[in-house]
Amino acid sequence: MKKYLITSALPYVNGLPHLGHLIGCLLPADVYARFLRAKGEDVLFICGTDEHGTPSEVGAAKENMPVEEYCLKYHQLHVQMYEGFNLSFDYFGRTSSEQNKEIVYRIFEKLWQNGLVVEKTTRQVYSPDDGRYLPDSYVIGTCPYCGYEKAKGDQCENCTKVLDPIDLIHPKSAISGSDKVEIRETKHLFLQLPKLEQDLAEWIETKKGVWPDIAYSIAKKWLKEGLQERGITRDLKWGFAVPKEGYEDKVFYVWFDAPIGYIGITKQWADEKPTQRRFEDWWLNPDETIYTEFMGKDNIPFHTISFPATLKGTGENWTQVSMLKGLNYLNFAGGKFSKSEHRGIFLDDAIREFPADYWRYWLIANAPESDDTNFSFDQFAATVNKDLNDVLGNFINRVLKMTATNFGQQIPLLGNPTTTEKELYAALDSLIETYTKHLSQLEYRKAMSVLREIWVAGNNYLAQTEPWKVVKTDTDYAGTILNTALNLIRLYAHLSAPIMPQTAQKMIDIFEYPDNLAWPDAPMSVYLTKLPTGTPFQLIQPLFQKILPDRTAELKMRYKEE
Ligand code: 2FM
Ligand code: ZN
Repeated sequence: MKKYLITSALPYVNGLPHLGHLIGCLLPADVYARFLRAKGEDVLFICGTDEHGTPSEVGAAKENMPVEEYCLKYHQLHVQMYEGFNLSFDYFGRTSSEQNKEIVYRIFEKLWQNGLVVEKTTRQVYSPDDGRYLPDSYVIGTCPYCGYEKAKGDQCENCTKVLDPIDLIHPKSAISGSDKVEIRETKHLFLQLPKLEQDLAEWIETKKGVWPDIAYSIAKKWLKEGLQERGITRDLKWGFAVPKEGYEDKVFYVWFDAPIGYIGITKQWADEKPTQRRFEDWWLNPDETIYTEFMGKDNIPFHTISFPATLKGTGENWTQVSMLKGLNYLNFAGGKFSKSEHRGIFLDDAIREFPADYWRYWLIANAPESDDTNFSFDQFAATVNKDLNDVLGNFINRVLKMTATNFGQQIPLLGNPTTTEKELYAALDSLIETYTKHLSQLEYRKAMSVLREIWVAGNNYLAQTEPWKVVKTDTDYAGTILNTALNLIRLYAHLSAPIMPQTAQKMIDIFEYPDNLAWPDAPMSVYLTKLPTGTPFQLIQPLFQKILPDRTAELKMRYKEE
């Protein structure tokens, strides 16, 4: 039987996550995992913190902590924040784990044996005052092209030219500010991507029309430009030691061990959870595994070129990505989120302001799929007020109250469906088919617009049948209408659960009826007749609260949304 492997890009441990990270990979992956589980599929959803590299070393030094302690502290903060948003990882691990080290060494040795790793001497910036080599982005100086004085050694922010740090005029260390920097020669290991180019190109061709355009075209662009040998070691202390003579002071490059981290973290899961399942069942099992990756657009080259090439180069039968969902950026007030500038909404703030499901719904409904999107509190409030409060929330309240008043708190008897009910069944069958198709194809905005239509269909049904009038003349039919409407609440819970899991659970808990939130698998003529007559139900507090203009104004001030 086919099984599904789902990964979200691994967030850097040193940066605390904001709404952009949530919609950029984590949340779409979670919605997909929940959707597939509801359909009864065998799903493994893996994520974790990306921990190695200079930013962690620098962050730890700033906080005066050993880097291991620093990473653990921030790893735990990530875990806490993701729990707040109900991200349903099967395992949230760490790229610095022993298991990841084991897999990194295994892959590296195979690449070495296959003659795909070469040694080269490179020229790097060394800072005696920092006592270390500086990664490209930690050298700052004047751009040789435009004269911008704060250009970073990897790219000039002002003219966007890609730079080599040794070209900067008046280079200095971004860590200490020292300008006593020098160029030193140092040896590094390189993965010979050109040798894998042919094999990779043939494989990528099979993804035409399968991967979304954004992923396929980025991969093709890289192939067209010709693949370069790629450095896989760095002059750093924090990382996995390179198991070769002469490399005692070096570690593997963070971008070498991060994607391998998906596999290492799966091994953490297999070792720690008593499930009797092995990481090989997923990762060395391409015929039975459908592997879907979620990531921001900047990650696409790593996941379509360097990581697949690394796996191919081993000559082993690793599972490769089947489907890849690349997302654009979510901006705030037209710019980037920034903790240091106190701009944007970080996950700890977000969860203090509103329940997770408000954010989950807004983000998925506005996912930056075809372009970058902007967050604004006005839009957020408008969506919560209209879609969640007016359409979904009010439907539930009205139905529960009307039934309780006229029939008591139990499901009334369902009579023979009339043409109106039959039309409702048919309309919903078709809408649900479309909704399911969009979710399967990872088209979130389209999916959410259909979900809204499905909610609206409930309100239209009440407007059309007017049970508050019918109850005065034909109690039996009024009972049939309200029975159908109560079944709609249950249906809405099932369909909304991947996006709003807490709200869906509250909706299901209304009824004293065992339910596992499984995906609708029967036509509506059957599905909407499921709740047995006489089943007791609760009256509940409104599921959503409107966000009023005063609150929106206050939020705009607090989060500096101009
Ligand atoms: O861009 C990022 O946030 C990286 N930490 C993603 C790594 S994804 C995977 F390769 F590990
Ligand atoms: Zn420049």
